[in-house]
Amino acid sequence: MTRKGFAGALLLAGCAVLASTAVFAGQKAVKDIRVGVSVGHTQEERWQREIDMFQQFADEHGFRLMVQSAENNADNQIKQCENLFNQGIDVLILQSLDASAVAPIIDMAKEEGIPVIAYDRFAMNCDLDYYITFDSFKVGAVQARFVTDVAPKGNYIWLKGGPEDNNAHLVAQGQESILKPYVDRGDIKIVLEQWCKGWDPNEALRHTENGLTLAGNDIQAVVASNDGTAGGAVQALDAQGLAGKVPISGQDADLAACQRIVQGIQTVTAYKPLAKLNRAACELAVALGTGKDPMTSIDPALGVWAKLDNNYKLVDSFSVDVIPVTRDNLYDILVVQDKFHSLEDVYRNIPRDQWPK
Ligand code: GAL
Repeated sequence: MTRKGFAGALLLAGCAVLASTAVFAGQKAVKDIRVGVSVGHTQEERWQREIDMFQQFADEHGFRLMVQSAENNADNQIKQCENLFNQGIDVLILQSLDASAVAPIIDMAKEEGIPVIAYDRFAMNCDLDYYITFDSFKVGAVQARFVTDVAPKGNYIWLKGGPEDNNAHLVAQGQESILKPYVDRGDIKIVLEQWCKGWDPNEALRHTENGLTLAGNDIQAVVASNDGTAGGAVQALDAQGLAGKVPISGQDADLAACQRIVQGIQTVTAYKPLAKLNRAACELAVALGTGKDPMTSIDPALGVWAKLDNNYKLVDSFSVDVIPVTRDNLYDILVVQDKFHSLEDVYRNIPRDQWPK
């Protein structure tokens, strides 16, 4: 995808058919709607958390939620969505496993007149109705910025996310926007640059081992694209006695990553306030199911609307901001402010007298 960051999206208006805001027939009372949720897998901590949030919102508002996880199988995701359509859902919230393989799902939804909200991950080359997301370009920029701040010179390992996920490409573009000037000046040398299929920590482990071997362990930083892959890389660094000596990035504020951050083994995680993303998707889904105006349905305090190009059209998209979290602000943001993790969980490996008060 050609996008250069969320802010730049509007500039691409000429590249695609301009989307008209779709009109759907849903006129039901909230308690009568059925909302389908399809996720690609529940491997990362965040997805299970988000399923629980969807369920909580549905319970509070009295509507029926139907959740399916494709467990890493793109064909499965198509079959499960077909099944949800057959069960009479009014709206589908879709977290695509493979951005370019979900078009048949959108086609089916169109035939049935069911609106689809892409959730977190974009659905490419199709007549998608809405997209609720974080700014992935910013995620990548944050990761590279915090790592280059600590290691402005030297040999780098660059671990990109799952190539099947459009977000991974946007994250990589964000990382590149920061890394490029350093590389062009000759300050940073990328010793190894690899995708980690399926965001698999084992792939990250193997790639990092290879990078370390290529550089004879002379590595000054690792730009990793999420916390899972950062975990794999840290394992490889640790085996060479380098964990905590080499700055490394991540995203998602997974518990294991937060523990590494307070221990000084991971530098930064791009924290995504999942509660906001989830709420935005729920509010939009209810509006679509009950026939309210979708474009005014989401609390503006949660993020901003824009149009994003999915190589077929410009899709009405709502973006929630991401926050860099380091050792300095982790306690304030994740523990106190957002209650994303508990103090006990995060600081479990730190002597109690050093816990923040
Ligand atoms: C991306 C998502 C990230 C991360 C990753 C691994 O699509 O934006 O937050 O979870 O998937 O599944």
